[in-house]
Amino acid sequence: MKILVTGGAGFIASHVVDAYVEFGHEVVIVDNLSTGNLKNLNPKAKFIEADITDKDKIQAIIKSERPEVINHHAAHIQVGYSVKNPQFDAENNIIGLLNIMEAAKEIPIKKVIMAATGGAMYGNKKTPFTEEMKAEPLSPYGISKRAGELYLNYYHELYHIPFISLRYSNVYGPRQNAHGESGVIAIFSEMMAQGQTPIINGDGTHTRDYVYVEDVAQANVLALNSDFVGELNIGTKTEISTNEVFRKVAQAMGLVMEEKHGVERPGEQVTSSLDYSKATAILGWRPQVNFDEGVRRVVEWYRSK
Ligand SMILES: NC(=O)c1ccc[n+]([C@@H]2O[C@H](COP(=O)([O-])OP(=O)(O)OC[C@H]3O[C@@H](n4cnc5c(N)ncnc54)[C@H](O)[C@@H]3O)[C@@H](O)[C@H]2O)c1
Repeated sequence: MKILVTGGAGFIASHVVDAYVEFGHEVVIVDNLSTGNLKNLNPKAKFIEADITDKDKIQAIIKSERPEVINHHAAHIQVGYSVKNPQFDAENNIIGLLNIMEAAKEIPIKKVIMAATGGAMYGNKKTPFTEEMKAEPLSPYGISKRAGELYLNYYHELYHIPFISLRYSNVYGPRQNAHGESGVIAIFSEMMAQGQTPIINGDGTHTRDYVYVEDVAQANVLALNSDFVGELNIGTKTEISTNEVFRKVAQAMGLVMEEKHGVERPGEQVTSSLDYSKATAILGWRPQVNFDEGVRRVVEWYRSK
């Protein structure tokens, strides 16, 4: 299959590209390298440097490449920055998607797969979150991802373009950017590998659902051959506190470290975990890599850098 992957120089989508290439698919990557890295590019994929907000360029690429599937991961991903600059977030995550879809409807496309958020989609509800719960995103980032899903539903209804939106929990693994505001495992691993003690925001009892990036890539592989149209949670249904992340990373590094706490970030969600039973029923997907093993692999990667 010919698949165009946006954001394929980034953390998650570079693993998706690797998995697609391994399964013998022809992959074209579009990325503006804003947070992506040339080092992440799979050498068997074709790379085109372009910004999805550049309507003429992205539409010309889609119309000339004519992919059978578009896997859309390019996005602005910082929740905090989306609060400071919602226009920038919407420009990338909503207008960028529309630029893609307006070209996609002109070619015989079979499917669009989009990376959405499970962590920032449901608001402050009782965990685990299910897809049946009302989407009530509390940040411009969550809103733009939900808007993306509604637009995909519109393109499905009007132009019969099937879509699957994969709502990820907190994804972690090798290649994650340790310099953003999210990705606590990457941030802790990089700091500890450099002999620094990371500061835990607040008392560290907030929990998140951490899913390993290769499991996420596998969901993107399974999504290719499914007739399902709609949203699926991709997570582990397990809540892990920031204090536990600190301890596990330190342990995997072979370090004995005192936890250091700083001020809590305002507006932080307290808990988050995703019920993934729908993804199991529909795609046959379930997480394979447990947290200890995933952290061990991340630490190994940081050590080998
Ligand atoms: N990391 C997570 O825990 C997580 C959780 C839920 C959803 N997601 C989603 O998964 C996707 C990938 O996230 P990631 O963590 O790999 O982040 P990332 O920053 O590593 O990847 C994003 C990629 O998109 C590219 N990009 C950004 N804006 C672009 C634009 N306007 N035009 C072209 N390319 C552009 C970047 O250069 C980068 O390579 C995003 O859509 C994100 O919202 C991530």
